[in-house]
Amino acid sequence: MNGVEIDSLSFCYRDSKQEILHEIGTSVEAGEFVCILGQSGCGKSTLLRLLAGLEKPTGGSIRIDGEELRGASLSRGMVFQDYGLFPWMSAGENIVLALRQRFPEMTKAEKKALALSMLEKVGLQREIYSKLPKSLSGGMKQRCAIAQAFAIDPPILLMDEPFGALDAVTRARLQDLVLELWESGERSRKKTVFFVTHDVDEAILLADHIIVLGQRPSRIIYELRIPEEKRAKRETQFVDPEIISMRNELIRQINQDVEQHIGE
Ligand SMILES: Nc1ncnc2c1ncn2[C@@H]1O[C@H](COP(=O)(O)OP(=O)(O)OP(=O)(O)O)[C@@H](O)[C@H]1O
Ligand SMILES: [Mg+2]
Repeated sequence: MNGVEIDSLSFCYRDSKQEILHEIGTSVEAGEFVCILGQSGCGKSTLLRLLAGLEKPTGGSIRIDGEELRGASLSRGMVFQDYGLFPWMSAGENIVLALRQRFPEMTKAEKKALALSMLEKVGLQREIYSKLPKSLSGGMKQRCAIAQAFAIDPPILLMDEPFGALDAVTRARLQDLVLELWESGERSRKKTVFFVTHDVDEAILLADHIIVLGQRPSRIIYELRIPEEKRAKRETQFVDPEIISMRNELIRQINQDVEQHIGE
């Protein structure tokens, strides 16, 4: 399961009067890969924080399998925009800590082995296990955070621009890895993924449900569900006429919203 219903969701940060999200509503089926697109500052990270249970809605609700979401849970893993690694622990210890919370029955050796294999999967060498985050590059930290999220194998995965700091080749490799891990669901079934990105092409490649957030206050200005058989493929993404027209429409919708807000 792990379907998500978002109903008239509104949000305002406590110390501010400005409404960030305004009556957001959508329905996400279990196992969907949802990409959230929108301009910088429109509230994408805020929406993920609400989905993680780190913030409480000021209006409306989020329900998971019919149950109203209350507080954070290990069943929803998050890859934060700023990586979310504890700076005083090595990369490997960060992963092991998350594993300890999620799988208390695992032995120390099992946790270490799993952490090492996840680091390897995201293309990092074993030595990285014992390195502190401050001694790693942005892209390496980002890969550690992705390794951590997939190691804990949560049924709902929230990813906030997880590939922002990566070069094009690593990014393509990790996009494929995320899709593979999403589809195969190594130790559980297909995950429900919410993935924030600025990149229209990345959204088209990954998603089967795209949500575009507008600005001030943010609402859903465009939404697209892509049936399984119409999903984009890396090899044909830029030549398939249907994908090209989907891309053009997405860009048109985003630009139209930007134009409406220019000069405000
Ligand atoms: N803790 C906070 N307190 C008050 N306002 C906040 C807080 N965090 C974010 N905001 C404001 O909420 C709005 C949305 O921020 P958010 O980080 O969700 O945007 P975003 O879409 O993720 O942007 P980006 O693409 O740059 O990451 C911004 O105007 C921001 O200034
Ligand atoms: Mg953000």
